[in-house]
Amino acid sequence: MTDLRIEVVDDVVALGRAAADHVSGFLAGREASTVVPATGETPLGLYAELASRQGAGELYPTGVTIVQLDEYLGVAPEDRRSLFGWMHRTVLGPLGIADDGVLRLPVDGDAAACAIFDRTLDDRGGIDLAILGLGDNGHLGFNEPASNVASPTRVVELTSTTIEANARYWGSTDDVPTRAVTLGLGPLLRARTIVLLVAGERKRGIVHRALEGPVGEDVPASFLREAGAEVTVIVDRAAWGAS
Ligand code: PGA
Repeated sequence: MTDLRIEVVDDVVALGRAAADHVSGFLAGREASTVVPATGETPLGLYAELASRQGAGELYPTGVTIVQLDEYLGVAPEDRRSLFGWMHRTVLGPLGIADDGVLRLPVDGDAAACAIFDRTLDDRGGIDLAILGLGDNGHLGFNEPASNVASPTRVVELTSTTIEANARYWGSTDDVPTRAVTLGLGPLLRARTIVLLVAGERKRGIVHRALEGPVGEDVPASFLREAGAEVTVIVDRAAWGAS
């Protein structure tokens, strides 16, 4: 049974701080941990806050291994749309974590390489902490509806909802690749701790569906309610509503 807590905060600034408290508390005193940091806009405040606490000498992350959550298919690291590049700019660089220690997804999506990725992750003991955002369609990473709860790391076709949502990062829908590689729901939901960050009114419908509607493949984030992990959902008032 999942241990799921929902923390409602005032706004996106408070969300970054609350998430940073959570992540700092998690990392404190750990000599090694395997962490999945989502890209996307919602966790940006968290990463900036962690970097600032590290700069102020309040956070000493040691032995952190980063695992990549998702990547557009065939997009090279130097492409402006590379999600590895995004992670480098917002997480690795600011926190002083070397790129070459990251467990990276195979960007060509080769099935055998995806299986090796999952095995390597398993051999390293799986994920300790996954920091996730929520897609407009309830996806986690690029595990789009409908994704099986045990799905492995694999190539996926992005849905039109995701392509439209991602257009705000890159200019227009024509700039968004239509296929991607995602860490599967199977390995993701075996994480020991998961923090889901949700902000903005646009996510209001989907966050309530994920947390209160039926659990199933059409809203992949609903599976968080059945994960073995300790799950914390930090959601701002704009997304949660007045209740
Ligand atoms: P966002 O993306 O944080 O930019 O809203 C979330 C997601 O698509 O998972």
